[in-house]
Amino acid sequence: MSQLILYLARDEIQKIVADMAKRISDDYKGKSPVFIGILKGSFIFLADLIRYLTIPAKIDFIRTSSYGNNSVSSGEVILTKDIEIDIKNRDVIIVEDVADTGVTLSYLIDYMGSKNPNSIKTCALLDKRGYRKIEIKLDYYGHYVSEGFLVGYGLDYAENYRYLSDIYDLKL
Ligand code: IMP
Ligand code: MG
Repeated sequence: MSQLILYLARDEIQKIVADMAKRISDDYKGKSPVFIGILKGSFIFLADLIRYLTIPAKIDFIRTSSYGNNSVSSGEVILTKDIEIDIKNRDVIIVEDVADTGVTLSYLIDYMGSKNPNSIKTCALLDKRGYRKIEIKLDYYGHYVSEGFLVGYGLDYAENYRYLSDIYDLKL
C-alpha cells in the first residue's frame, strides 16, 4: 500500500507563494512580465502566484514531455504544446512545479531564448537541487527539497493526486 505523508500544508504553501510573488513584484516593478507555466504540474502554483502579484502580468502555458522510456528520463525533451503569446522583447518568467534534474528548464530556457525575449528568468515552487544533471539558473525558488517524491497542489504521480490542496511525500 502506498502512503501519503504530509509535507507542506496549504497555509505554509500560501506563505511560500506569497513571499515569492513579493520578490518578483519588487524585482519587476514598472514592468509587465509574461509568466509561462509548464503544464501540467505548475497550473495551481501559477494560479496562486499571479494572484499575489502587485504588477500586471500576462499568462501562457507550454507543455513538454520526456522523450523515450517513461521511468528513466532519457534527458531528451519534446515540446507537445507551444506558447501562443509573442514574447519578443518581453520579460519572461518560466514557472515550474519542481526543478529536479534541470533537463526541462534547461531545454525551455534555450527554447524561449530563440524567440528573442528581453529577458528570461525561472521560478520553481520546489527545488530538488541535489538531483541536478544539468546546472540551471533558478532565479526564484519556494522551498528546498532534499529527498522524496512529492504530490498534491498540482504535482502528480501517474496523473494521480494533483487535486490535493496540501503537498505530500508519496511512499510507494
Ligand atoms: P526535471 O528533471 O528537472 O526536468 O523535471 C521534470 C519534471 O519532473 C518536473 O517538471 C516535475 O513535473 C517532475 N517531478 C520531479 N520531481 C517530482 C516530484 O517529486 N513530484 C512530482 N513531479 C516531479
Ligand atoms: Mg512538470
